[in-house]
Amino acid sequence: MKEKIDSLRQSFLQELKEASSSEAVEKLRLAYVGKKGAVTELLKGLKSAGAEQKRELGQHINQLKKQVEEDLAKQVEIIRSAEEQREIDSAERYDVTMPSTSALGSYHPITIVQRQLEEIFLSMGFAVEDFKEIVSDYECFEAVNIPKDHPARDMQDTYYLENGQLLKTHTSAAQNAILRKYGAPCRAIFPGRCFRNESTDASHDTTFFQMEGIMVDKDISISNLIYFMKTMLSEVFKRDVKVRLRPGFFPFVEPGFELDINCLICGGEGCSTCHHSGWVELCPCGMIHPNVLKMGGVDPEKYTGFAFGLGLTRLVMMKYGIKDIRDLNSGNLKALSQFVHE
Ligand code: FA5
Repeated sequence: MKEKIDSLRQSFLQELKEASSSEAVEKLRLAYVGKKGAVTELLKGLKSAGAEQKRELGQHINQLKKQVEEDLAKQVEIIRSAEEQREIDSAERYDVTMPSTSALGSYHPITIVQRQLEEIFLSMGFAVEDFKEIVSDYECFEAVNIPKDHPARDMQDTYYLENGQLLKTHTSAAQNAILRKYGAPCRAIFPGRCFRNESTDASHDTTFFQMEGIMVDKDISISNLIYFMKTMLSEVFKRDVKVRLRPGFFPFVEPGFELDINCLICGGEGCSTCHHSGWVELCPCGMIHPNVLKMGGVDPEKYTGFAFGLGLTRLVMMKYGIKDIRDLNSGNLKALSQFVHE
């Protein structure tokens, strides 16, 4: 019996040397220690042996079984790491120092202009603030003097969440938080994404960007407002652009203005972007209403301020001659790739 055990060991070791794939190792396992394997059969054969023989031979057979199992496990490991190495060796190699052959990525034109504006206002002492997109009814409307049932709400329908919160319709929704954060005096701009539930056309989208700005201090007047608006536009366009200021109503400013820009798509002739008027509504503004200052914790007897709500997406359209606002949200690389090197 002992010779049989030894010859089984020899044949196993010989076959193991040749088992170079996972399948071959599995075959070997079944042949030696599987249910009907040679080593298993030896163990079964001990049933009829005497007690002394069972003890002695059983020990040898179990040793062989242990050795077979351990050697098989080692072989599996050797084959697996060899396979991994082969995969690594065959993987596509590339030189990370080579210049790219594909098109370069770029910032979205809105990001480019937003950053440019942030630089301009930072240089004039304004802080740049970020604000959330989901806001409360209070922040979006009541804190800017638009109580429930005020007709001005009809101009700004939006998307409501089940918990009563809503997607902000204008960056003015941050005014209260900014006034409370800085108190008076304060200068801040806060760009952000806005949402409106309205039909789209060449100059209206359901998602667009605005950039709000406020300046509050003693003796702030309309002259300050006009100075900052003019500086901003000349810095962005780097040339003279025709603007007009006309009265406009917003419950959170008094007096309020509409600042329009001569349409740069058609040069003022009239086109679908400017609804054939030759002018594009760009930046409503005005002197902050005393109620809004009060709700923001600022004493309107001591301080005055101006606010503006720049249509950032429309400004981008004018700067780059983009005729349809919907191109900007389309993800259309053909339209957007022209800004690659800005
Ligand atoms: C407002 O949103 C006011 N919060 C602006 C404001 C702030 C006034 C501070 C006074 C003081 P209005 O709804 O007009 O106002 O929007 C402001 C600008 O956002 C518009 O002039 C336009 O340029 C842009 N805008 C408005 N709706 C859309 C839209 N659907 N798609 C693209 N741009 C839009």
